[in-house]
Amino acid sequence: MLRTTGIHTSFFRILIISYVLLSSVGYGSAGTTSSFIRSVWPSIDIPLDSEAFAIPKGHNAPQQVHITQGDYDGKAVIISWVTTDEPGPSKVQYGTSKEKYEFSAKGSMTNYTFYNYKSGYIHHCLVDGLEHETKYYYKIGMGDSAREFWFQTPPKIDPDSPYTYGIIGDLGQTYNSLSTLEHYMQSGGQAVLFVGDLSYADRYEYDDVGIRWDLWGRFVERSAAYQPWMWSVGNHEIEYMPKMGEVRPFKSYLHRYATPFLASKSSNPLWYAIRRASAHIIVLSSYSPFVKYTPQWKWLREELTRMDREKTPWLIVLMHCPIYNSNTAHFMEGESMRAAFESWFVQYKVDIIFSGHVHAYERSYRISNIHYNVSSGDPYPVPDKSAPIYITVGDGGNQEGLAGRFKVPQPDYSAFREASYGHSTLEIKNRTHALYHWNRNDDGKKMATDSVVFFNQYW
Ligand SMILES: [Fe+2]
Repeated sequence: MLRTTGIHTSFFRILIISYVLLSSVGYGSAGTTSSFIRSVWPSIDIPLDSEAFAIPKGHNAPQQVHITQGDYDGKAVIISWVTTDEPGPSKVQYGTSKEKYEFSAKGSMTNYTFYNYKSGYIHHCLVDGLEHETKYYYKIGMGDSAREFWFQTPPKIDPDSPYTYGIIGDLGQTYNSLSTLEHYMQSGGQAVLFVGDLSYADRYEYDDVGIRWDLWGRFVERSAAYQPWMWSVGNHEIEYMPKMGEVRPFKSYLHRYATPFLASKSSNPLWYAIRRASAHIIVLSSYSPFVKYTPQWKWLREELTRMDREKTPWLIVLMHCPIYNSNTAHFMEGESMRAAFESWFVQYKVDIIFSGHVHAYERSYRISNIHYNVSSGDPYPVPDKSAPIYITVGDGGNQEGLAGRFKVPQPDYSAFREASYGHSTLEIKNRTHALYHWNRNDDGKKMATDSVVFFNQYW
């Protein structure tokens, strides 16, 4: 009896050792397709009268308050808000202690129509000359309906400045969107890199398009009034709607969401760059011309030469449409931008490229396909230490639902993929290391599901 137990124990030991050895053989090459399936709320937009879209009380109270970086180096913010009863002043009062506003800045006001919808009065105010790593309080609006918020400026530009970014894409305004937003707000993220497709207002028609933009502005205010969201555009911002007589691309987006494009010598708010703490962040537009000799192509070529990895070692690129993604949804839509820019991304050793568009999560290995030139060369992506990691975070939770079908088998370039909702965080620790997580919305809880340490591509 004792002898039999001994044989069994030895057998199981061999089995476990064999399993460990076999598992480690494939590590680093075979990717993972997560089989996780969670129960989700239906992909429907939150009703208009929900608390999630509450209108602030008082005559002409500022609403839809949001901030973004206002300059190249993080010493300025652009504060934006909407008033609905009358224009009111485009003035921001601010200071470093609560309820004591020593300074003020004056901005400008704009509005627009979309079909028969008339927007509120949209204010944008640049607040500059700020100190790094300082908490500022600010006040907008008049009298009893004035509102107060605060934000923290980033540390100065330094290769070892630590900073935590949240990455959110394709957010929309469903209960899943709310879950993503609330989980992000618990994450300790200090600024959001938003990878396009904001409100999904273009899923509506006529006056409801503008109304849904207003709702979304009130929806994200809970975070965007207190920390900068860096914007990039997606296809849902185009809003080419000839049926309603609306044919000017990005009309709603451009009126409502400002970017500091002039500070990086860009000629267009849809593509620009900022430096923040230890990162150089380049924002591209997947839906503006980018082939050789176009303004976006020329600007990117210049911006890459302005970059100084000695000062900002982390090079991050945002674009809506992913270049490497193995979901059946939107498969290869990023191929034209890959053809235009991939060789630069490898040459300049981009650390990470974040995208949205596909409503599922995916992370690639460092791979490139820059040797193929139609007539010769290897047509397949190959491991490349100088190449970026491509991450798709189009899983914010909008009303179109999840993209649940991945290509089978999982391509060699794909490291991890899962079709559920969530957001990412990138905690830059110093010039060499960053901790990265993708956080799944797990039935109301946040769960770090894909966790990786990134080593800087320059240092
Ligand atoms: Fe999209």
